[in-house]
Amino acid sequence: MKLWVAFLMLVAATLGQELPLADQCDAEACRLPDCRCSGTNIPGGLRARDTPQFVLLTFDDAVNVINIETYRRLLDGRRNSNQCQVGATFFINHEYTNYVLVNELYNKGHEIALHSITHRTDQNFWREASVEDMRQEFADQRIQMAHFANIPYNQIQGVRMPFLQMTGNSTFQVMSEIDMTYDCSWPTISHVSPGMWPYTLDYASIQDCPIPPCPTASIPGTWVLPMISWIDQAGFFCSMADACFPPNTPDRTNEEAWFRFILTNFERHYFNNRAPFGFYVHEWFLSTNPAIERAFIRFMDMIANLHDVFLVSFFHTFTFSLK
Ligand SMILES: *[C@@H]1O[C@H](CO)[C@@H](O)[C@H](O)[C@H]1NC(C)=O
Ligand SMILES: [Zn+2]
Repeated sequence: MKLWVAFLMLVAATLGQELPLADQCDAEACRLPDCRCSGTNIPGGLRARDTPQFVLLTFDDAVNVINIETYRRLLDGRRNSNQCQVGATFFINHEYTNYVLVNELYNKGHEIALHSITHRTDQNFWREASVEDMRQEFADQRIQMAHFANIPYNQIQGVRMPFLQMTGNSTFQVMSEIDMTYDCSWPTISHVSPGMWPYTLDYASIQDCPIPPCPTASIPGTWVLPMISWIDQAGFFCSMADACFPPNTPDRTNEEAWFRFILTNFERHYFNNRAPFGFYVHEWFLSTNPAIERAFIRFMDMIANLHDVFLVSFFHTFTFSLK
């Protein structure tokens, strides 16, 4: 099924034809596990209190001999309340990456995902990226990652765009061609409370588009994991934990205030529809702000004692939402 869709899209792309425009979602036709309409309803019709609260910890950019120390310090030996190991997701770009260390992360049960080969700083490049550009950045990177980090090709399923700059349809078109599952680059500020659950692009998305262009074509079977924004103390939205800026965040040396700030954002999910809660950061943010790192460790210690909260990689979230 997926194969012939990918094949048709390849043919359409080769002939320079437009992709079909996505229609409004038809909830009768669009059913799990292959399809899900965009929205805030809990998959499977579960009640919130029966729904596991997933916490998604992600780190972006190159993995190297310096930041691996932070990853080991935070994650080695850490377990969820059910005694399973926690998992984080690493969105890795090629430049400056040490693949021996990527292999270590993978073997410790973490998820390895793609963040482009070049991570070039020209944001216009990403905004205007063609399908061929995205093949070179992501389809090629998947092969490169599997080879150099010695990871099974089909264990690499996720993409995050540099600067969260969406490319319209082209990234999703490439994901569909090579059968990759999901993108996690698309922030939402309109569907934060209740938060938006992951959904597919078979049909038109109702998600707001803070960093256009967002996809509007029907690209069956590709998933969007909306980045549900945090809200800072002045009511502004931040798509990543390190994108909330002073003075609207607690002082970066105040552990107690940062612990409460993280908790406030977490509770917006936990006491609502339990859409996955993201702690999306770059490693430097924790290693250069020891009080914030301590606050985050306290947060992880706290959730390790909650029987319905799980710090897992995205891959695990999918296994759940596909049921
Ligand atoms: C995405 O595809 C749709 C349907 O072909 C098209 O209308 C839209 O312009 C495309 N988006 C971009 C940014 O090219
Ligand atoms: Zn990056």
